[in-house]
Amino acid sequence: MCAKRLINAVLRGVIMEKMWTGRFSKQLDKLADDFNSSISFDCALYKQDIQGSIAHAKMLAGCGIISEEESKVIIDGLKGILSDLESGKLAFDFSAEDIHMFVEAELTARVGDVGKKLHTARSRNDQIATDMRLYLRDESGEVVALIKQLLGAIVEQAKKTKTYIVPGYTHLQRAQPILFAHHLLAYAMMFVRDAGRISDAVRRMNVSPLGSCALAGTSYDTDRTYTAKLLGFDSYCLNSIDGVSDRDFCVELMSAFALVMTHLSRFAEEIILWSSWEFGFVELDDAYTTGSSIMPQKKNSDMAELVRGKTGRVYGDLMAMLTVLKGLPLAYNKDMQEDKECMFDSLRTVKNCLAVFAPMVATMTAKKDNMYRAAQKGFINATDLADYLAKKGVPFRSAYKTVGQIVAYCISQDKVLDELTIDEYKKFDKLFEEDLYGEISLSACVQKRTSAGGTGARSVEQQIKFVEEFIK
Ligand code: ARG
Repeated sequence: MCAKRLINAVLRGVIMEKMWTGRFSKQLDKLADDFNSSISFDCALYKQDIQGSIAHAKMLAGCGIISEEESKVIIDGLKGILSDLESGKLAFDFSAEDIHMFVEAELTARVGDVGKKLHTARSRNDQIATDMRLYLRDESGEVVALIKQLLGAIVEQAKKTKTYIVPGYTHLQRAQPILFAHHLLAYAMMFVRDAGRISDAVRRMNVSPLGSCALAGTSYDTDRTYTAKLLGFDSYCLNSIDGVSDRDFCVELMSAFALVMTHLSRFAEEIILWSSWEFGFVELDDAYTTGSSIMPQKKNSDMAELVRGKTGRVYGDLMAMLTVLKGLPLAYNKDMQEDKECMFDSLRTVKNCLAVFAPMVATMTAKKDNMYRAAQKGFINATDLADYLAKKGVPFRSAYKTVGQIVAYCISQDKVLDELTIDEYKKFDKLFEEDLYGEISLSACVQKRTSAGGTGARSVEQQIKFVEEFIK
């Protein structure tokens, strides 16, 4: 703990005696104390911790476990702590074991012995489980909002580039012509699913553990429905052991975040490729690129690269969480305190990445001519030439073989399909006529792909509408 904070804490008189000193005859070793403490990171939960305590105090009075008077004193004290923390008048005491101990000690310092009644029919085990769910419920809403912001940027780009033709790739080899907007909208579909996965996880998570107490429930006549309702939960955990030992919601959210990062990372990789001189399909705005300290010509896509790099961190966070839970006996074990740093890191990282990605996508410039030039090479209309023959009755497999031979011929002549004369074509098959040129033009190739979900203009319009509806 830094000296200033220590002095502050001493001045406030809340350097805490451990709550559990009754059973012990000796102080906790200083190193062990620091090792055990979680307040340096669970202080992030102060608002939810106080919110949960207020609900608990209301319930205790409602059930006649403490008096209305006492409940009011406790709640006023808690509200004072909250506003003082938010205004900066009160600082966290980093010598506290965790956020729960800090709030309770501060409350008792402010309101006296009545503060000691707050922890009736409660344990830090159900308290932390409640805090985490409340916190992640709020934060998940923010992640979904950021995903929608990115979706907005993708749709904006798709609208701007609706007519741009670009090679579509398989195996990173030019495959078939597509609309650039169709390619962008593929990412929109991924992010729509991501938002859905997060919302699903939140729905399952929105169940109150409060009232599970240490693990077995309580002999007090409490009202868990009431606290659940006060805190906006849909219901309460039916099994108190599960209530305090479940961290599935962390795993589910971290899995969803890991997948968001997978999608961001694939998108980032393409943007990096597209920004290279080799592709030249897009140029990122200066505001989202960096220069080199030595090479004056450089314009690097650092933001996209960092997103790609940070993906590994978020995967690691998920692995850390899964591994904490693996083999843990029921119910609460201190191992579970390790849920927080990886959960918070995963959350912070995914939020930061989404926040920078959206404006980066919104401001990038698509280079129509470069895309078109690339689409003219690589025989990406070869499938359409085979379809031309097939539509004249040649079995597709035979047409495919003929076109393969034509492509080989083109390569030997250093030509593209559009450049062969009709006489050259007729050497391969008599069925070729002048109309083939119209059929294999790039714009025709794209326009003809009218199948549902294909790259045709109507499908692209439908996709834009779908994503816009989703954002609303
Ligand atoms: N700081 C603890 C955690 O984050 C709170 C619960 C402590 N419970 C206990 N029985 N020691 O998990």
